[in-house]
Amino acid sequence: MIPVLAIDGPSGSGKGAVGMGVADRLGWHYLDSGAVYRALGLAASWAQVGCDDEQGLRTLAAGLDLRFVAGSAAEPEVYVNGRECGVALRSREAADAASRVAVLPGVRQALLERQRAARRPPGLVADGRDMGSHVFPDAFLKVYLTASPEVRAARRLNQLKAKGFSVTLPQLIQEIRERDERDASRAVAPLKPAPGAIVLDSSALGLQDVIDRVLAMASDSSQSAVTPRIKD
Ligand code: C5P
Repeated sequence: MIPVLAIDGPSGSGKGAVGMGVADRLGWHYLDSGAVYRALGLAASWAQVGCDDEQGLRTLAAGLDLRFVAGSAAEPEVYVNGRECGVALRSREAADAASRVAVLPGVRQALLERQRAARRPPGLVADGRDMGSHVFPDAFLKVYLTASPEVRAARRLNQLKAKGFSVTLPQLIQEIRERDERDASRAVAPLKPAPGAIVLDSSALGLQDVIDRVLAMASDSSQSAVTPRIKD
């Protein structure tokens, strides 16, 4: 069985950077499941399919062509239906569209197998909202990463500014609260710690500290069918 380490949590909790860092240290694959929902949100806006048109979105999801191409930059280039859209994928508009399409059960179902297909040897680190609860319920380690809304908004502000977006901290705190509310209150796969997940609050921790703690949990995990080999 190919091992999966699931990292779930709200927007800005740091799960992307932590997930990539952990995957790199283990030499495992990495799945950014939020990018899958964001890509569908973008594809829907290009095709003028409404965020509440479940059937139209299911059709789009079934044919979604999403590719990550590693280059010299820290983050891979992302192609959605043949269009390079790395920066657009990280925009607030794409995040908003993602969280709207993500409430629809048919959309989540249509994207399930695509996410599970990322489980390839020697292992997978998967980040999102429902990695441990729905997509990979047999993950050997489930981490629920969180931080205060203010800390998460400040992190998002830095990320968005670095990508050239103009936004203020109060706007982001408001948007994060709205997105948390939508993600946590939806009927299917709501945002909450999976049974058995270890909750880790990263508000006062640096990125490297969080990566080290997750790696220590992976090594300690008594349920682990594998002993992850951590690179120096
Ligand atoms: O993680 P990220 O902020 O990129 O996710 C964007 C949105 O996609 C989330 O707010 C959430 O609504 C949705 N999402 C989800 N399930 C996942 C990953 C993301 O519903 N596994």
